[in-house]
Amino acid sequence: MSDKEGIEVSEAEIAAHWQEEEYFYPPAEFIAQANQTDQAVFDRFRLGNFPECFKEYADLLTWDKYWHTTLDTSNAPSWRWFVGGRINACYNCVDRHLPNHRNKAAIIWVPEPEEEADVALTYQELYVRVNELAALLQDFAGLKAGDRVTLHLPMVPELPITMLACARLGVIHSEVFGGFSGKSCGERIADSGSRILITMDGYHRAGDLLDHKVKSDEAVQVAGNEGQVVDKVLVWRRYPGQYVSKSKMVKGRDFFVDELLPNYLGARIEPVSMPAEAPLFLMYTSGTTGKPKGCQHNTGGYLAYVAGTSKYVQDIHPEDVYWCMADIGWITGHSYIVYGPLSLAATSVMYEGVPTYPDAGRTWRIAERLGVNIFHTAPTTIRMLRKAGPDEPGKYQFQFKHMTTVGEPIEPEVWRWYYHSVGKGKAVIVDTYWQTETGGFLCSTMPAIHPMKPGSAGPGMPGIHPIIYDEDGSVIERGSGKAGNICIQNPWPGGFETIWGDRKRYVSTYYEKYCRNPESKDWRDWPYFTGDAAIQADDGYYRILGRVDDVINVAGHRLGTKELESACLLVPEVAEAAVVPMADDIKGRVPDAYISLKPEYKPSKKIQEAVVAAIETEIGKIARPKRVHIVPDMPKTRSGKIMRRVLAAISDARDIGDVTTLANPEVVEQIRQMVQGDNTETLK
Ligand code: WTA
Repeated sequence: MSDKEGIEVSEAEIAAHWQEEEYFYPPAEFIAQANQTDQAVFDRFRLGNFPECFKEYADLLTWDKYWHTTLDTSNAPSWRWFVGGRINACYNCVDRHLPNHRNKAAIIWVPEPEEEADVALTYQELYVRVNELAALLQDFAGLKAGDRVTLHLPMVPELPITMLACARLGVIHSEVFGGFSGKSCGERIADSGSRILITMDGYHRAGDLLDHKVKSDEAVQVAGNEGQVVDKVLVWRRYPGQYVSKSKMVKGRDFFVDELLPNYLGARIEPVSMPAEAPLFLMYTSGTTGKPKGCQHNTGGYLAYVAGTSKYVQDIHPEDVYWCMADIGWITGHSYIVYGPLSLAATSVMYEGVPTYPDAGRTWRIAERLGVNIFHTAPTTIRMLRKAGPDEPGKYQFQFKHMTTVGEPIEPEVWRWYYHSVGKGKAVIVDTYWQTETGGFLCSTMPAIHPMKPGSAGPGMPGIHPIIYDEDGSVIERGSGKAGNICIQNPWPGGFETIWGDRKRYVSTYYEKYCRNPESKDWRDWPYFTGDAAIQADDGYYRILGRVDDVINVAGHRLGTKELESACLLVPEVAEAAVVPMADDIKGRVPDAYISLKPEYKPSKKIQEAVVAAIETEIGKIARPKRVHIVPDMPKTRSGKIMRRVLAAISDARDIGDVTTLANPEVVEQIRQMVQGDNTETLK
């Protein structure tokens, strides 16, 4: 949270302020086939019809038992949806499609090595594999409804299979992004209380076969240090029967899944009928303090919301070939590769590797070969693809009807390339704004209803009623040209219920700031604080400016600056550390690290490298700082707080502003020369 003295720097403060843009209109062919063309949807979902309006989404699912209470607010602000209802998420994503779509591809997986064949799993095949694994998880691993299990899996079909097998049993899965370090994984194992870790020996990335199993040894150890014993590590093999990791299998603890599965051939496990409000999964995300937050998403509400938004915003029909390029290790993959599309009987494409490997045409070759017609990715990938081969999409014969951008603001110029070159001028684009916590979209245009405006997400979704408050809680009106904190006035079914094991933090992070009465059980008293700054134009469209807290959005991935700073401080020579967001052409933002040394040490390349190594071990390679600046001292206020805002301005070569009130203004110029002069080295 940016405090009153304006000491912390936020992404919102360094946001680019784009001009108002022209509208682009959805093509007639798109409108003609769209799932939602009825403007009246906004009337049906108006606040006056809340919360009953969301029945429309819940009715997309197959319920074992219908609910009696649409929204239970008795434990405000932990909202419970469709209470009294019973449902199984796996049944909804798999079993119920068998009568009509048994032989249709549910998942098409594209391995990174181009010479390896795609794997197409029909709904029947998915059903069989999920059942057999569920039997293994139940009988061999002893998992039952309500248990947590940590997954540390890359982009392989075994990941959705494992998630769905958990969901079938009512087991709460917590998937940790494959790129995260063993240490990060271990902390999440401990926090969630998992005694089972499911991982893989290796996977392909940018031409390398990475050793992934090694991370599990560290993960188990870190979890153990925090008091969480892992009894079993289940190891999928990238090539069954062939082990590609150097890490030893620990006897009695580590088991190859492909060796165990034959014991469960033909097994069928009844989907466990879960209460609608039972947790489905945890997804950890970064926050203001060092400790990641386990966002708890519940079964009925979450599934209803992702099914509804997949149908009406992603415009998925069963006959579509839908490709979301996110990693399932993030919320986008959970909601819009696995649960949303599969609940609608779509064909969901998964790709193992890097979009530009081995060349800039790879993404478009996949789209062409599979006949993808709905495409979903993040601005960072769009920028990367554009840089690698601006004319490549034109060389391949694919035609998208619909494209999504998600996770960060997209520059209007990049948006236009996406529209003209990737969409070939014939696809609609939705710029979807949302968060790990929100489960599904908050703001976007409805693709067949609203015109698009490059750089703006659009209005609130049906049933989502955003509002912008200033710091004091006064409403900032649309069209005022002023930015403020974007909040949501009402709960919605996709929203998380709490932070796993830390309800206090849940309330203080998301609700304390604008709560009207902490005793209240009325949702109207509890606007949801997103942590983003936004501005609302005259036409009602929201433009998201970035985080107002200590979170950096790097290539669409959320990193807490505090997590990075504590990693720097593990290097014995480092006295103080400040990590700030720095603008980057491809990744949007990257972390730029400033450290000062304890008096007995001299700056050296070795120390810089140790800082980078510490960050990679603690968090993962994605958190690698752009540079590590060793500064003589940190710019500080008289009360001793580090002025990150000044450092961020230096990193971006922006105007530093008035620093005369600092305790040590002279150091600012020294740092500026160091950073902007030629004598700093970029770590590559
Ligand atoms: C940012 C990703 C601008 C925002 C789904 C939010 C966006 C954070 C957009 C959540 C968008 C997400 N335009 N900014 N369309 N979508 N963001 O939890 O700052 O990984 O708070 O969820 O990404 O990131 P998270």
